[in-house]
Amino acid sequence: MTTPTLPIAPDAPWLAPLAGFSDLAFRLLCREYGAAACVTEMVSAKGLIYDSPGSRDLLATTREDSPLVAQLFGAHPDTMARAMDILLAGGPGYFDLNAGCPAPKVVKTGAGAALLKFPGLLVNIARAMARSAGPGRCGVKLRLGWRRDEPVLHELLPRLEDAGAAWLAIHPRFASDGFSGAADREAVASLRRRTTLPLIYSGDLFSAEDAANALRETRADGVMFARGALADPGVFHRLRALMRGETPAAATPASVAALARRYAALAARHGNPHAALLKMRTVIPRFARGLSGARALRKQLSSCTSWEALYALIETIETSEPGAIDAAGESRAAALTP
Ligand SMILES: Cc1cc2nc3c(=O)[nH]c(=O)nc-3n(C[C@H](O)[C@H](O)[C@H](O)COP(=O)(O)O)c2cc1C
Repeated sequence: MTTPTLPIAPDAPWLAPLAGFSDLAFRLLCREYGAAACVTEMVSAKGLIYDSPGSRDLLATTREDSPLVAQLFGAHPDTMARAMDILLAGGPGYFDLNAGCPAPKVVKTGAGAALLKFPGLLVNIARAMARSAGPGRCGVKLRLGWRRDEPVLHELLPRLEDAGAAWLAIHPRFASDGFSGAADREAVASLRRRTTLPLIYSGDLFSAEDAANALRETRADGVMFARGALADPGVFHRLRALMRGETPAAATPASVAALARRYAALAARHGNPHAALLKMRTVIPRFARGLSGARALRKQLSSCTSWEALYALIETIETSEPGAIDAAGESRAAALTP
């Protein structure tokens, strides 16, 4: 077994890969709010090799953006090894194989969750990536299988361990489930016994309490927040507090305004300013969900065309009714599906 040098522990929550969201600005924001490691959104191995527009932009990083895991998707060991050569020349120190994405545009190329239909191929790709990455530097993110009647992970996990994977992240749904039903924590508890590799749990973590419960029930080594982080990056600090035995501080209108202001500043600095402004128009209402006046804010933001106007609207969050936030933020996060 190869031991990763990444933080994988109950009090070291990761930001999960989130296509369209886990870009440099959002990763930096989540790190400031307690994320111990971040994963890029999935990057196409072919896109990297053929230098298709946007592929390399997804890998933009800075010194503070560390430790960083770059996630690749692809369907052929040689292509993945060639893409790894490109990644190794850049910033990320860690790598991840996407074997869980059920999006039609990914699975129709044989990549993502489609690899779960061909365990031998999946293992060969993991081996090729792990060999390029070096010991302790490459993980695999999985769903439970392609279809409910074909669970494959019991057989697959030991093979991935032999292939040199350094950690495993599991979102316990089948590809055919999409995001329906509940993530199956019992399945992860049972898979825990099939591998000695560090196991990271992902699925329906909408609050720090959800994560603490999932850690206890599955005996996973760590968690990654996805929709929960999109709704409120404060969830990282809250889990850390919970793990220290403290009562996490609840979000307040002032803390939501500070979060929105910081994200706007990071997005303007690290992205295309016009695209960043448009993104803020959809992201800030998500942070403010549950606050008094959230609906009006959403409406005003949707027609906001300047940073000055955006910051002025953020000011109004601060004057929302104190204590007007829904307790766990659950409704904010659950409403998000890809
Ligand atoms: C908008 C969105 C984009 C996602 N993009 C990726 C991705 O690029 N790669 C990946 O492996 N998983 C991706 N996922 C799956 C998440 O990383 C995570 O495993 C899943 O959302 C379950 O966690 P949650 O229920 O706590 O949100 C995405 C999920 C969402 C909601």
